[in-house]
Amino acid sequence: MIQTAFEQLVNNFVKIDVFVSNAGYMSNIALIVTSDAEDWWEGFETNIKGSFNSIRAFLPHAAANAIVLSVNAGLATNPSNPGLSSYSSSKIASAKLFEHLQVEHPELRVINIHPGVVGTTMTEKTRMPANNNRKSRVTNIGYQTYHLQRSLLGV
Ligand SMILES: NC(=O)c1ccc[n+]([C@@H]2O[C@H](COP(=O)([O-])OP(=O)(O)OC[C@H]3O[C@@H](n4cnc5c(N)ncnc54)[C@H](OP(=O)(O)O)[C@@H]3O)[C@@H](O)[C@H]2O)c1
Repeated sequence: MIQTAFEQLVNNFVKIDVFVSNAGYMSNIALIVTSDAEDWWEGFETNIKGSFNSIRAFLPHAAANAIVLSVNAGLATNPSNPGLSSYSSSKIASAKLFEHLQVEHPELRVINIHPGVVGTTMTEKTRMPANNNRKSRVTNIGYQTYHLQRSLLGV
């Protein structure tokens, strides 16, 4: 399906200069032992298989020296928090996938970005307070993970 989407966007005379891989899924916050296996795996379906399919659909239409921006997550590389195993592990795997894209295609410029927490539909799941001013977007990841740990531990 994504191949069709790319083919509809471009034709033989147009190439893609900038590709942003933004789609992402956060499984419900749950401990590994009690998580819903299907929902847990959905993180990998979207964050890994979705990225894999998107890369393969994009490459035939990539301009020389195209830029690839992968919207990853601070939670991929921050200290691990209970309840976020699907999201964190699928996102760190996704970061690695885009690193491989870079080494396989040195002509591209591949950038993994790891944003902090921004209030969106996704973060409603975490029960974390949204804090969308510019300074907070950069700094509040540590604050948010601290509060997430406290809320999961019930303290
Ligand atoms: N919000 C944050 O604090 C935060 C922090 C760090 C990184 N990120 C990353 O930022 C990106 C955008 O997230 P967001 O916060 O804007 O969350 P969001 O509001 O939940 O948006 C997620 C987006 O991903 C798309 N998507 C989800 N599953 C998909 C699938 N299987 N196939 C195609 N599209 C799918 C959704 O499309 P539909 O609307 O059509 O469902 C939606 O556009 C994600 O990669 C997320 O991991 C977010």
